[in-house]
Amino acid sequence: MISITKEQLYQTLPQFLMIQDETLRNTTADIWLEACGASDWNALEDIPFMPGADAKRFGFLHHVALVTQYSFEVALAYNRMEATPISVDHATAGALLHDVCKIVEYSSAGGRSTWGQRVSHGIYGVSLCQKHGVPLDIIHIVASHTAKLSMPPKTPEAIIVSKCDAIAAGCVHLLED
Ligand SMILES: [Fe+2]
Repeated sequence: MISITKEQLYQTLPQFLMIQDETLRNTTADIWLEACGASDWNALEDIPFMPGADAKRFGFLHHVALVTQYSFEVALAYNRMEATPISVDHATAGALLHDVCKIVEYSSAGGRSTWGQRVSHGIYGVSLCQKHGVPLDIIHIVASHTAKLSMPPKTPEAIIVSKCDAIAAGCVHLLED
């Protein structure tokens, strides 16, 4: 289990502070803390981006930071360029939550946890979001970011997070030797 306070989480991922709505920021952090409590890892820094990867080179935290920062910046640009504004907060919170399931899906023993072996990627995050009363538009972002769940992104915010996830993941794979 990962013991971490909300303040430590905000220091670890300052992208949380980009969520303007305080209730949404708190709920998003509460979901992270619940996943941390259910994890078999000791520290978020030890979790790799994918099973078997070196967490120092390809860390889960760095991936989430990248996807969240990219999604935030693209959502801001979208609102500068398009006539109909979208929710920058939803894109930011959705990006922070899109892979929160990995905290439980991956095992510190290597590979995937029993949960990760038996339940598709993304479902744990969706279930935590539903439990904590996250708006459906954000649950949709989490549910549609992965091809493992057969739900394509149907909102600009979900398309942004899904594409920013692909950018961050694709660039990591370029670094693999
Ligand atoms: Fe991701």
